[in-house]
Amino acid sequence: MKEDLTRRGFIRTGAAGGAALSWLSARRGPTVFAADSDKPALLGGTPVHKGGWLPWPQWREAWEPKMLEVYRSCKWFRGSGTHVTDFEAAYAQLLGARKCLATASGTTALIVSLHVMGVDAGDEVITSPYTFIATYNSILTTKALPVFADTDPATLTMDPASIESRITDRTRAIVPVHIFGMPCDMDPINAIAKKHKLAVIEDACQAWLAEYKGHKCGTIGDVGCFSFQESKHIPSGEGGAITSMSEELIDRCNAFHNCGRSIGSFKGKGSFTRGNNYRMMQPQAMLLLQQFEKLQKETAIRRETADYLTANLSKIPGITPVRLPENSRAVWHLYAFRYDAAQFNRLSRDRFMEALSAEGVPCSSVYSEQYYDGLLDEAIASRGFKRLWSEQRLRAYRESLGALKGNKQVCDTTVGITQNMLLASRSDIDHIIAAIQKLRTHSAALAK
Ligand SMILES: Cc1ncc(COP(=O)(O)O)c(C=O)c1O
Repeated sequence: MKEDLTRRGFIRTGAAGGAALSWLSARRGPTVFAADSDKPALLGGTPVHKGGWLPWPQWREAWEPKMLEVYRSCKWFRGSGTHVTDFEAAYAQLLGARKCLATASGTTALIVSLHVMGVDAGDEVITSPYTFIATYNSILTTKALPVFADTDPATLTMDPASIESRITDRTRAIVPVHIFGMPCDMDPINAIAKKHKLAVIEDACQAWLAEYKGHKCGTIGDVGCFSFQESKHIPSGEGGAITSMSEELIDRCNAFHNCGRSIGSFKGKGSFTRGNNYRMMQPQAMLLLQQFEKLQKETAIRRETADYLTANLSKIPGITPVRLPENSRAVWHLYAFRYDAAQFNRLSRDRFMEALSAEGVPCSSVYSEQYYDGLLDEAIASRGFKRLWSEQRLRAYRESLGALKGNKQVCDTTVGITQNMLLASRSDIDHIIAAIQKLRTHSAALAK
């Protein structure tokens, strides 16, 4: 596939789209269908956006010689060549981290990090409930209890003010999640961690190149975890990484991820320490190494598009774009906003999303209140968890989920569009804005 997203093409399409948008925003008014084409697509009108969106992930012909070379070499295992270590050095440099360890996935990066930061069976870990389920599961796999801080509805990330009241004598670590590539407010999180001697493991699985106060996400806590799974901005099918400013921590991670083989500054008592096989393969590393320039170029485009969407969507009553912490830059794995049905004639969020999708703008409600989905109940009913915590603690834990009011609000009102759409031309992006505006104009008819 050609590099068809040039900056010039992106800017060229912007002007015409802007004119169409001002025409549309001048048209707010009563719910009268001027013509069939003006009706919501869900009610038989013509969709605002008729084309598709960029498929994801993408392939480049230019990558093929190196990919073939690594496959033909039959040196696929991490230890058989230097591609994985080359990737680790390059990714650390890209982020300004001291060191990086490649892993099999983001989930395994989290599991390794939790172990190395001393999280053990029966410990508690404070994390965000608003995340991909792997964050919960990596903690549960460690036989620790994920204790949820509340979500700030303005930022969709962990509300630092809700952390301290959840700390117990078993709390060992905080796992802030830079959800959708939006940095958490790390200064207060790090301050609380320091005060209570807790480790900070950043779940940066959606936050490649995101920045907080001049530092890249993944370099702000003790360690940071990344995912390169297929949907991600830099994908290799599966894959992950751990980054840190501490060489010693990464050496510990290396030992644990490589069947417990001690390495570098970290030497276990014998040849082995405890560990598993969570290694990345050479072809994955080669695929990742070739995507650095693409990642950086596309991150700039996503940022420009997100700024443009925020400037325009915030003018529509009932649509609230997300606020970022001061002096931070997101990378927009999803572009999310909160939807207020009261400003749309009580058109439910589900019906709004259905209507927006019918206009050719696919969207979703993203994460739900996953802590009620059964996996926590299953964990706390298990023999292991019952051995590790008192009945009283597990009951109080289950009841405390009802206190996550901010998170409930976020789960009930958020609408997200995926990162690949942010790479579209400006005129296509204008379709997103125009479609939402059109649904507001016709919200009473849609709500019937
Ligand atoms: C926030 C978050 N944490 C953890 C993970 C787990 O990463 P992986 O799918 O590579 O195991 C993901 C992946 O989607 C994620 O988005």
